[in-house]
Amino acid sequence: MQTLNIIRPDDWHIHLRDHTTLKLTVPLAERTFARVLAMPNLTPPLTTVPNILSYRQRILAVTQDEHFSPYFSVYFTNDLNEATLREAKQCPWILGVKLYPQGATTHSDWGIDDIHKQFAHLSVMEELALPLLIHGEVTTSTIDIFDREARFIDTVLQPLQHRFPKLPIVLEHITTAEAVDWVQSMPAHIAATITAHHLAFNRNHLLAGGIRPDYYCLPILKRHHHQQKLQQAVMTKNQSQFFLGTDSAPHVQDKKYSACGCAGCFTSPIALPLLAELFAAHQALPLLEAFTSINGARFYQLPINTQRLRLTQSPWVVPKAYTTDDLTFIPLLAGQTLSWQCQPIEGQPNE
Ligand code: NCD
Ligand code: ZN
Repeated sequence: MQTLNIIRPDDWHIHLRDHTTLKLTVPLAERTFARVLAMPNLTPPLTTVPNILSYRQRILAVTQDEHFSPYFSVYFTNDLNEATLREAKQCPWILGVKLYPQGATTHSDWGIDDIHKQFAHLSVMEELALPLLIHGEVTTSTIDIFDREARFIDTVLQPLQHRFPKLPIVLEHITTAEAVDWVQSMPAHIAATITAHHLAFNRNHLLAGGIRPDYYCLPILKRHHHQQKLQQAVMTKNQSQFFLGTDSAPHVQDKKYSACGCAGCFTSPIALPLLAELFAAHQALPLLEAFTSINGARFYQLPINTQRLRLTQSPWVVPKAYTTDDLTFIPLLAGQTLSWQCQPIEGQPNE
């Protein structure tokens, strides 16, 4: 039986949701991750530092691991103000500002309609070195859904980076060869998160032989060659601009499996086993730790975790569902067998 002992991972992009759902998402996340960056697309969105701090308290109220640390980003709306940016920079739990193009994804109605109107704020963020986290897809209805990320890079991101060359940027949940190439062509303050599911799957998993809503997320799964390019990026040494953000995004069963099903894959409980399986299949297990536990911490200038996680090659069946109170969430790969599992190893907490 193969085992691997790695620095405890962090999840730099997760949707924990709020209220009752936290009783499920927080304990699941902290089973694996020491730190998470919880996304601000709640209803209403997290647009101010006080709102983020009270959300943090709601999360801490349900944690079972005293060493688990949630981090946050401010939702970039058309009403964002400079004082909030300066306050966010001072807050140790806030790592950046999240930009959703209006209409791009779940709960993005409060997002930015025209980035050109936000140049004053972007200039303040550049001065503060406050990272801009980007959902990188254009929303034009005439642009094919499979081309929206690549088009965003050409028409929005590249000009933006040119205009604000010192601004730290994380292109979130990248899915294309174009995104990998773009990040690799940039200096170290430009990075990208990649999900476990975009590494493990492609659009055939979503569409071939029947539509499988579990695999539907945004940005949508792409062609196999894009998947291979993402795999190459994380399975090559010294690719420190790429780190794990699971984008685990649970939706209640009724809303996920309906005539107009919600976008988002619930992967928190399977992300590390799935990655271990994938890296093992490519004889790349020694490169897993940099992707899950080192590169992101370095980017956000946080200490590397001192706790560790043990991955064991030992089969387990993914639960068919997770429930909390009367809410049911189906994880990706529900009922299927994964060949790796993970257990935390007790150790010293971070300073
Ligand atoms: C996310 C959600 O459900 O909040 N959905 C998704 O498909 N990834 C939002 C997001 O990150 O795009
Ligand atoms: Zn997300």
